[in-house]
Amino acid sequence: MSEVLTGHATEPKVHGGLPLIHLKDLGKEYVTSSGNVKALANVDLDVQRGEFLSIVGPSGCGKTSILRILSGLIPHSSGVALLSGEKIGPGAGDTGVVFQKSVLLPWRTVEENVLLPIELRGKITQESRDEAARLLALVGLEEFAKKYPSELSGGMQQRAAICRALIHDPSVLLMDEPFGALDAMSRDNLNVELNKIWIATKKTVILITHSIPEAVFLSQRVVVMSARPGRILEIVDVPFAPMRDLELLGDAEFGDVCSHIRRFFKQAA
Ligand SMILES: Nc1ncnc2c1ncn2[C@@H]1O[C@H](COP(=O)(O)OP(=O)(O)OP(=O)(O)O)[C@@H](O)[C@H]1O
Ligand SMILES: [Mg+2]
Repeated sequence: MSEVLTGHATEPKVHGGLPLIHLKDLGKEYVTSSGNVKALANVDLDVQRGEFLSIVGPSGCGKTSILRILSGLIPHSSGVALLSGEKIGPGAGDTGVVFQKSVLLPWRTVEENVLLPIELRGKITQESRDEAARLLALVGLEEFAKKYPSELSGGMQQRAAICRALIHDPSVLLMDEPFGALDAMSRDNLNVELNKIWIATKKTVILITHSIPEAVFLSQRVVVMSARPGRILEIVDVPFAPMRDLELLGDAEFGDVCSHIRRFFKQAA
C-alpha cells in the first residue's frame, strides 16, 4: 500500500500527487439511427487515489456514461480519459462495478458469485477463496456464502455485489446508484457499511446517486453535473472526517452542505 492509501483515513482530502483518474475535456456522443445524442461535454475531473467521490445531476445528464467510460465498457468520443496514467480502453480491467440492480447469477451461490471475476480471469485458488471469505465477513455475509441470491434480501444482494466488484482488487470501485432500489432504512444502514468498507479497503470509490444526503454522507467531494450534455457545474468539498455515522444526518453543517448542493441541482435541472 502506498503512503497516500494508508494516510487517507486520517486526512479527509488527498489532493496532492498524480491523480489516479484524469479526465480532460471529455466528451461522449452516442450515434443512433435517429441522430446523435450528445451526452457529455468538456468534463474535467481528477480523482486522487483513496478518495470517495460522488456524482449527482439530473436524470439523463451522463452520469452512467462517465461510469461506463471509466470501466472501459464504452469508448469516449473526445478528450482524454486516463486511469493510473494509462489510456482507458476496451476491457480495461482495473475497475469493479456495482449496478443499481444486483446482477448476481441466481444459479450460483453467494461465494460462487463473488468469485466469478476470478474465474473469468483464470483459476480459482485457495487464496481467492480466502479473499472471498474475508470480503463476505467484511460486509457481514459470512453466514450466507453457501446460500443462493434468492435467499438474500435486496440489501444483502448489493453487499454481495460489492464483494464481487472488489474480489480482483481493482484500483477503483465504481457504483451506479447501488442502493436506489432499497427502502430508506436499509439504505441508511448500507451507507454506514459502505463508509466502513471504504475505510477498511482504502479503495478509490466513485458513486453515482440521486440522493444528495447519500452523496454528502459518504463522500469527500461531490461533483454536481448540469443537464445534458452533462458538464461539471461545481465540485463541492465535504468538510467531515472520513469515518461517518448516522448522527451526522442530523448535524446542522450536514444540512448546510446538502442545501448548498441542492441550489446547484436546481440550476442544473
Ligand atoms: N446506448 C445509448 N445510445 C444512445 N443514447 C444513449 C445511450 N446511452 C445513453 N444515452 C443517452 O445519453 C444521455 C446520458 O445517459 P446516461 O445514462 O449516461 O444518463 P444518467 O445521468 O445516468 O441518467 P439517469 O440519472 O437517468 O440514470 C441520455 O440522454 C441517454 O438517453
Ligand atoms: Mg444512470
